Parts: sequence; structure tokens; C-alpha cells
Amino acid sequence: MRVCVIGAGYVGLATAVMFGKLGHEVVCADVDERRVRAVNSGKSPFYEPPLEKELSRLVKKGMLKASKDVLGSARESAFIFICVQTPSLSSGRIDIRALKAASRSVAKVLRKSEDYKVVVVKSTVVPSTTDTVVREVLEVGSKKTAGRDFGLCMNPEFLQEGSALKDSMEPTRIVIGAIDKRCGNALMKLYSPISSDKIRTDLRTAEMIKYASNVFLATKISYANEMANICYRLGIDSDVVLNAAGKDPRIGPLFLKPGLGFGGSCLPKDVKALRQKARSMQYPGRLLNAVLAVNDEQPFEASFILKEVLGTLERRRIAVLGLSFKGNVDDVRETRAIPLIAGLLASGAEVVAYDPMAASNFIELMPTIMYASSAKEALDGADACIIQADWPEFKRLGRKEFSRMRNPVVVDGRRFLVPAEVEKAGARYYGIGYKPANEP
Ligand code: NAD
Ligand code: UDX
Repeated sequence: MRVCVIGAGYVGLATAVMFGKLGHEVVCADVDERRVRAVNSGKSPFYEPPLEKELSRLVKKGMLKASKDVLGSARESAFIFICVQTPSLSSGRIDIRALKAASRSVAKVLRKSEDYKVVVVKSTVVPSTTDTVVREVLEVGSKKTAGRDFGLCMNPEFLQEGSALKDSMEPTRIVIGAIDKRCGNALMKLYSPISSDKIRTDLRTAEMIKYASNVFLATKISYANEMANICYRLGIDSDVVLNAAGKDPRIGPLFLKPGLGFGGSCLPKDVKALRQKARSMQYPGRLLNAVLAVNDEQPFEASFILKEVLGTLERRRIAVLGLSFKGNVDDVRETRAIPLIAGLLASGAEVVAYDPMAASNFIELMPTIMYASSAKEALDGADACIIQADWPEFKRLGRKEFSRMRNPVVVDGRRFLVPAEVEKAGARYYGIGYKPANEP
């Protein structure tokens, strides 16, 4: 079967490689020339090593290629997956310009096509978008009718960056929203080699499942952060509290790590988009407000701790380790490093930043701060350091590195270091939800 994936981003490439591994011939269409060139040379345009390895193998085998020619790519394909970005506008609404542009290209293909094709929206879109906006663009442009002349499905993606391919090959569930049985059955068949639970719904329900999932994850994180902030002020270790709370299967242990808040291209955007949708129907979305309010404040918890420890941040040199929105990715979309560093600078601190992979992406967002080429260099002469992203290499920091600091204080903004090990290496350890014993 030939499958076309529009958009060679995290979702598009993971989808393309997944279908390639299942034995289909895949073409990935993207308007970004650099991405197309990267894919055709077997390289992932972003840091995702296992995905890149399989991508390179499939490109060599001739099973996967990329093209700037969206129409040509879709023409020969029985399934067309739309995986373009749907970023936040300042109102919180999603920007669907790329989705509409991709749909217009697909409509042109449908117009000339004699065979039945299934169009699948995989981008995250607020409930009703597929059934109204996408459908209308496709029907008007093709002069054909969805459900009769072509299929229309909504198939949300649940992958996490850093494990994109594994999550696509072994998803927790596959949601197949369909305009009718025929295209739903066809998509079920395409996914049949993957044994995960399959849930069949209409288009709107599929869209809503994605939001309900991400809002719950975001809610767990804001809950963990609120508990941790209260624990810190009480001198209680929040990890002990949240690990114990998470043993209750009704609560569950995952996504209870306190930190500097949730970033990335999905959680903040999706909570805002659902809130905006709710508001447009005169529903206030109080929980959504609270989840976002906690998240907005959370990066400043690190400055709050540092002000307690150092007295002031004025002219203090602070090393910020990790600039991506989490460890093991080079994606800086909505990274908490932005408000964290902005807050430090506003308090008069001098910031030296370091990230193993994301620095070149981050420099575009914050060109004027100082950058170091290693964690060791960032720590040189620092009055404190803040771990902003959980990169594994920060676990290996020890006496040799901490001794370069003017004042060896570590604020673990992701609670992933072991306090006793940091103390053994000669630094004072503080964390979100963790104040060392015998502190006031
Ligand atoms: P991305 O920004 O990494 O990639 C999108 C790609 O689409 C870009 O390469 C862009 O050039 C291309 N594109 C834009 N308009 C196009 C057009 N008209 N024709 C062809 N190509 C076009 O995006 P992403 O992170 O993969 O996210 C895609 C969608 O999936 C979003 O709706 C997002 O919310 C959702 N999602 C993302 C993740 C994630 O972890 N990144 C997880 C689940 C769902
Ligand atoms: C998220 C969802 O997990 C995924 O299912 C969806 O498809 C896309 O959005 P991702 O953006 O890759 O995936 O990031 P995720 O691993 O969820 O982390 C998001 C943010 O939350 C990061 O900034 C991370 O540091 C933070 N986080 C995560 C916490 O602060 N605590 C946790 O316990 C988990």
C-alpha cells in the first residue's frame, strides 16, 4: 500500500517510519526544503536517535522518501495523513492555517482522482475542526462529497518526544474517528498489524479524546507542582509524599514529578486551546484556568528558592543547565527555560546557559545571554546552578564540576538528581519540593 504523510515533523516522521516498518511504501510531503533534504539523506530534522536509525534504513531500502511536491506525493496514495503543526495563537486558539493549506492540496488531488482515498487528520485539532473546516475545504476544493467519494478520519497521536518511534509502534491505544464505516474499516485494516486497543468513534469524539488526555497529564503535573511547593515551605520532601500518593491505583505513579512546569509543543497549547473552545461556548473552564495558572508561576519557584538561599539574585551568576523543554530532546517549543531565565534576569542575575543538544535552537529565542559549551564551563564561577531539563549527563556532575562554582548550590528543577549524591560531591542540594534538613 502507498501511504502519504503530509508534514515531516515529529508526528509525520514517526507515522511515516511506523508505516514503513509495517511494509508500506511511504512518501512524506513537506513544504520545508531543509526537512525534505534531511529526510532524503536519512537524517531526522530533530534529535530523535531511534527514529533516525529506522528512517535511514527505510530511505536506503527505498521504502520511504520525502518530497516538496505535496500534490504528487498524495496522488498515488490510498491514505493521506495530515500531520502539520497547529500552534497556539496569542488568544489560545489553534492556528489552522497550515491545516487548511494542506487540506487544499489534498482537495486538488481528490478532484482529479478516480479512486477512493482516505484522508486522515492526525494533527491535534479542537473538536469539530475535522467535521467542519477540513471537510469543507476538501469538499469545496474537490467538488466531491466526504463519506461518499472519499473517506475522512481523525486519528489523534499520543506519542511523546524522545520515544516517538516506540510510542508509534506500540501505542497505548489507537483512536479511529471516522465519518463513516467504510473509511473507519479501511483505517482499522491499515493499523491491524499493531495489536494495541483500537477505539472507534466519530470525528469529534476522536478530537476530544486527545484533549481529554493531554489536559489530564497537564493537571497531574500542576497538582504535583502545587503539592511540591507546599511541601517545600513545610520542609517536607515532596518525592516521598507523591511517590506514596501515586501508589494508589486511582492516582497512579506517572506524571507526578514536580518541576518547573510543563513545556513542549503540546501540553500548554492543548490546555489553552480547550479553554478557549470552552469559553467560546460561555463555559468558564475553571480547572483549565487553574492548571495553566500553576504552570505559569512554576518556573519562578526556582528563583524563590534561590532568593532564600542567596539572599538576593542581584549580580549573582546563575548557571542554567538544560534549555530544551525536557531532557533527551532538542525541541525548545514552550520550554520553561524562557520564563525561568527571563525571571532571573529581571531579578538582576547574570545567566550562563548550557544544553547538550538544544543550544542552537534556544539561541534564536534568547540571543543575548551567555552560553557555555559544557556544563563544566557553565558552572565556572557560578553562585548557583538550576537544572532546567533532565538530561542524563547532568546526573554525572560531581565534585570536579561543582568545585568550579564560587558557591556550590544546586537547585534541581526536575527532581531527578539524588540529594545525598550531590551533597557528597560537595554541593548544597535544593529541589522543587525539597529543602535540606536543618534549613529554617
Ligand atoms: P512539526 O512542527 O514538528 O512539523 C510539522 C511539519 O508540517 C513541518 O515540517 C512543516 O513544514 C510541515 N507543513 C506545514 N504546512 C504544510 C503543508 N501545507 N504541506 C506540507 N507540509 C507542511 O509538528 P509536530 O510536532 O509533528 O506536530 C504536528 C501535529 O501533531 C500538531 O497538531 C501537534 O499538536 C500534534 N502532536 C504533536 C506531538 C509531538 O510530540 N510533537 C504529539 C502528538 C500530537
Ligand atoms: C506530551 C504528551 O505526554 C504526549 O502524550 C502527547 O502526544 C504530546 O504531548 P511531550 O510533549 O513529548 O508529550 O512531553 P511530556 O513528556 O509529556 O512532557 C511535557 C512537559 O511536562 C515537559 O516539560 C516535562 O518536563 C514536564 N513533566 C512531565 C513534568 O514536569 N512532570 C512529569 O511528571 C512529566
